[in-house]
Amino acid sequence: MSEIIEPLRGMNDVLPDEARWWQRLEAAARAVFAQYGYREIRVPVLERTQLFKRAIGEYTDIVEKEMFTFEDRDGLSLALRPEGTAGIVRAAISNGLLHNQRHRLFTFGPMFRGERPQKGRYRQFHQIDAEAFGYEGPDIDAELILLSARLWRVLGISRVRLEINSLGTAEARAAYREVLRAYFTAHESVLDADSRRRLGGNPLRILDSKNPDLAALIAAAPLLTDHLDAASREHFDGLRARLDAAGVGYTVNPRLVRGLDYYSRTVFEWVTDALGSQNAVCSGGRYDGLVPQLGGTPTPAIGWALGMERIVMLMQELGCAAPAELPQVYFVLAGPVAAAAGLQLAERVRDALPALRLETDIGGGSFKAQFKRADKSGAAVAVVLGEDELARGVAAVKPLRGGGAQEDCGFEALPACLARLVAAAPVDDGGATRQDPGR
Ligand code: HAM
Repeated sequence: MSEIIEPLRGMNDVLPDEARWWQRLEAAARAVFAQYGYREIRVPVLERTQLFKRAIGEYTDIVEKEMFTFEDRDGLSLALRPEGTAGIVRAAISNGLLHNQRHRLFTFGPMFRGERPQKGRYRQFHQIDAEAFGYEGPDIDAELILLSARLWRVLGISRVRLEINSLGTAEARAAYREVLRAYFTAHESVLDADSRRRLGGNPLRILDSKNPDLAALIAAAPLLTDHLDAASREHFDGLRARLDAAGVGYTVNPRLVRGLDYYSRTVFEWVTDALGSQNAVCSGGRYDGLVPQLGGTPTPAIGWALGMERIVMLMQELGCAAPAELPQVYFVLAGPVAAAAGLQLAERVRDALPALRLETDIGGGSFKAQFKRADKSGAAVAVVLGEDELARGVAAVKPLRGGGAQEDCGFEALPACLARLVAAAPVDDGGATRQDPGR
């Protein structure tokens, strides 16, 4: 036998038992986006490296250390997207979507960052991403946050809390950057190598440092909130007033600076205490300067992205509901003639009951073996078809859960009979809490 090919570190397979949680999240997000008038956009996973360098920033961890970058056969530098915003902005510009137009968009998909994998942090991970273009005032900031809060409610997610901050305009931040540069330069001797390098590039990034030796120095650093321009302050107050009016709780975290350079004014993050150190489940902010920075007509913009792996883990941790996908009805087909007839009968039932989950036994085997499989499948009702039933033009219908006697049912009446029995069966949670599939 050949050697097994190992999967890549930090890149996960999503197996069927797990996938139903993802489907739940995706379906809920689609429904909520539709409620708010957000429309889907799909963009490539691969872009020119230059796009991410310019959008996310040369001195960010993502661009400096984490991008999967390679040259194609023509020597063009390409990168697997580390996030969704840059590609969506590129697409909006490339396709002329931003000329005096407004757009509310969303996308789902895989992102790639070469980080050190750990619980909640992967090299291929997935985001659900919302972006709004052309809206200037704080209403859209509030709407995007309300939309995310609604998604948590729909999914049954608790134990998340919202942190918000304002980074001001690019000018205010440039001024603050110099204040910070002066502050950290005065303490250069205690900085680590990473921070010293950032001192020349973007000293704001030093505030993100996880080095415990720098914690006290960072805690005493001047606050951006104290250097906000008047218009940004007003914008931030507007957002706060709208969140207050909507009853969305939040804390202002003046240290929230985010790991991407394109933000201006509003930034926010939903964090949880239920997942350990990778506690950010949904993060975003305003990026009014990014469209012109990438060559497009100046357009205000704001968005967020949630980490699907983290939300799925949170749903599981909190015992939220996942959709049932076990069969509700299982066809036991005794003998080759019944197998062929059963396949057709099952088609007729599916025509009549499109929402019913119906599995037929394929491959035959003894009656006993098939019944065992029916039982193991989790189905509520077994339909038995053998030579005898076929001769009489009926199927034997047997509830598998909660008792109930076996009865014969004519082929025409079978859909109605199954609908009645499935509705009467004890509710199955879709296996969410079931330890052993065999009963
Ligand atoms: P981000 O904070 O880099 O922002 O990522 C957003 C979310 O993706 C995080 O809150 C986290 O839940 C998840 N995430 C990030 N990295 C990983 C990883 N290695 N493994 C698992 N999950 C991860 C952005 O990407 C921005 N594009 C968000 C945005 C949209 N801002 C404006 N519009």
